[in-house]
Amino acid sequence: MGEIEMEEVDTENVEDLVNLCIPPEKKEDKLFIEGAEVKKRWTDQVIKRYGSCALLAYLNEKPVGMIQFLPRPDEKLIEITCIFVPEKENLRKGIGKMLLNALIEEAKESNPYFDNDSAFALITWAFQVPGRYPQHEFYKKMGFRQVSEDEPSLLYYPLKQGYVYAPKSEKYIPQEEDKGKALIFYDPSCPFCIYFSEKIKESLKEVAPNINIRMVNQFEEVEEVKKRGKISFCIVNQKPIASFFLDKGNFQKEVMEALKR
Ligand SMILES: CC(C)(COP(=O)(O)OP(=O)(O)OC[C@H]1O[C@@H](n2cnc3c(N)ncnc32)[C@H](O)[C@@H]1OP(=O)(O)O)[C@@H](O)C(=O)NCCC(=O)NCCS
Repeated sequence: MGEIEMEEVDTENVEDLVNLCIPPEKKEDKLFIEGAEVKKRWTDQVIKRYGSCALLAYLNEKPVGMIQFLPRPDEKLIEITCIFVPEKENLRKGIGKMLLNALIEEAKESNPYFDNDSAFALITWAFQVPGRYPQHEFYKKMGFRQVSEDEPSLLYYPLKQGYVYAPKSEKYIPQEEDKGKALIFYDPSCPFCIYFSEKIKESLKEVAPNINIRMVNQFEEVEEVKKRGKISFCIVNQKPIASFFLDKGNFQKEVMEALKR
């Protein structure tokens, strides 16, 4: 194996980051083309605000892995939004570990958006992708701690001695304007976001053909997220839907129950 090189993502190599997660057979799919544009806009905005949003690993000048993140200045935390080494042949070669260790070192530096302090911790929602080595297993092996027993995917890595992460206790705040409507909250840092949103829309329309659906970009429309408190990826008639959209039967059942209220 050649030498792995690490690069901070900036305006020069942002396309490498955007394209890394898109499967080759989806490159021409219009939902992924739009997803890539949304992600590109997210990276430009985060780079402008915080200087960086990801680290990329290169092997023989080809991008082979990434870790991406978003500082949360109000809590002095850095949220890892994703880590990914897509190709089988590159797994278990230490790329994931190298990316994470580089981010840990970077996070120890002081930053103006943390009042010239460094981050208290790295946190992550380690979501699972079928057929892939689960992120939470990886992070736990790398020393991350589970925040609480009932949230197995919420993990953190303290950067200051004695720091314990306690998430703000939040409740969902129903909004009058959401009555009778569906809202989809999508994560613009993922190029699958538009494809997933279309799948959610299809599922919604099957059980509620005339429902008004509003898309909310979780980064650009942060006030829309904040004012609703604890949300899920989809809210129907003022009720956050708990079942994941890939679990179509339960998702649609919950949607119908929400509409009956
Ligand atoms: C998690 C991930 C980034 C790890 O990348 P990687 O480069 O293969 O990891 P590393 O080689 O640095 O492994 C570090 C340690 O993690 C653990 N590990 C990684 N893959 C493992 C596997 N398949 N089985 C068991 N342990 C594993 C091991 O402890 C390993 O250390 P070791 O090789 O010294 O035993 C990679 O598996 C991945 O991309 N998984 C999918 C993550 C995902 O779903 N992302 C969202 C995509 S949309």
